[in-house]
Amino acid sequence: MDDFSVLGTDPSLSAQKGAGESQGYDLTAEEKAWLADVYGKLTVKMRAETQRIGTMIPYSTGEDGKYHDLSKPGGLYFWTNGFWPGMLWQMYNATGEELYRQTAEGVEDRMKEILTGFEGLDHDIGFLFLPMSVANYRKTGNEAAKTRGLHAANLLAGRFNPVGKYIRAWNNAPWTGNEVSGWMIIDCIMNIPLLYWAAKECNDPRFQHIAIAHAKTAQKYIVRPDGSCNHILIFNSETGEFLNNPGGQGYGSGSSWSRGQSWAVYGFSLSYRHTGDESFLATAKQCAHYCISNLAVNGWLPLVDYRAPGEPVKYDSTAGMITAAGLLELSNHVGAYEKPLYVRAALNILRACEAKFCDWDPDHDSIVGGGTFFYHDPTGKDTHVPIIYGDYYFIEAIMKLMDKELFIW
Ligand code: GLY
Repeated sequence: MDDFSVLGTDPSLSAQKGAGESQGYDLTAEEKAWLADVYGKLTVKMRAETQRIGTMIPYSTGEDGKYHDLSKPGGLYFWTNGFWPGMLWQMYNATGEELYRQTAEGVEDRMKEILTGFEGLDHDIGFLFLPMSVANYRKTGNEAAKTRGLHAANLLAGRFNPVGKYIRAWNNAPWTGNEVSGWMIIDCIMNIPLLYWAAKECNDPRFQHIAIAHAKTAQKYIVRPDGSCNHILIFNSETGEFLNNPGGQGYGSGSSWSRGQSWAVYGFSLSYRHTGDESFLATAKQCAHYCISNLAVNGWLPLVDYRAPGEPVKYDSTAGMITAAGLLELSNHVGAYEKPLYVRAALNILRACEAKFCDWDPDHDSIVGGGTFFYHDPTGKDTHVPIIYGDYYFIEAIMKLMDKELFIW
């Protein structure tokens, strides 16, 4: 029998960095120069934008190139409202400028009343409170912000279906015409870090048990053997029996919605970070390799769906930004010989998207254009537009590469 034990002797094959350590992305001088240029433009643009829009709660710029406060249905409850404060906390962490801290606190002050509601809150409560209140608490130690984060975590945990072992997605989904108590979606893999955080803060593993159970269900039913993902799963909410996987925001059932893919790359990497369960690392890699292959044959520009007709060409830059941030997270959990694959892929995506989609004019709101909310957009209003979470994950990825990130997830 062959002796492969020599494979285990080189620490570069398995070395891992811990959370909070400098991650050593080993960038070239040319890459560092690109980053410095982007960081310079980012600081100018974000300062101007913050002074201009302040505690507005933005989503997408309209035809006039301006943000409009709460322009999405759902008002204060809309799932993307945590990303503007998240951008501000990243900028405060990197620059120390008080403008960013004060503005982020002002947004949270407007947003905090949503915790007195119930119907408007769903599985996306992690997207609302991690980049806002938990970020605030992590950076400043603000106890009221911590309490808000813990209330949010309890609401998320309360959505767990113990028979089906999944966190229920929406409260209602009128566009489906269906009853949705048995629905879970891939996006929630990015919400469960709120539970990992709460488990540590409360020294109570119940939150962690729920997060792990949900992640295992996602692993089993959402991720296909080739690393592509379903968006939506339907279970019988009484018996827990798996019923169906209809199409969602991508092209259709069996396709591969790129933002869902990006949530999987980042979310399973985080589940590994928080639990040390090697199967989550393997799943994150499986999804990452699928995304990298698809991006590499398309100039590193993310299509809305990786398994859709070639025409019309529809991009979603937000999927690229999330994938890049996720690949950088993943790169911190692999050995030195494996790391460059993920770092180089992340840089390729960021650079291709920056060249094609970024608007650095400080007089215009929003940075990254080319975002698409869903594939079948009948009006075209949500296609190839700037979307706030594209900007958030772009900033987060840049901060990661510059060792200036405030860890939020
Ligand atoms: N609900 C999260 C997304 O649209 O990606």
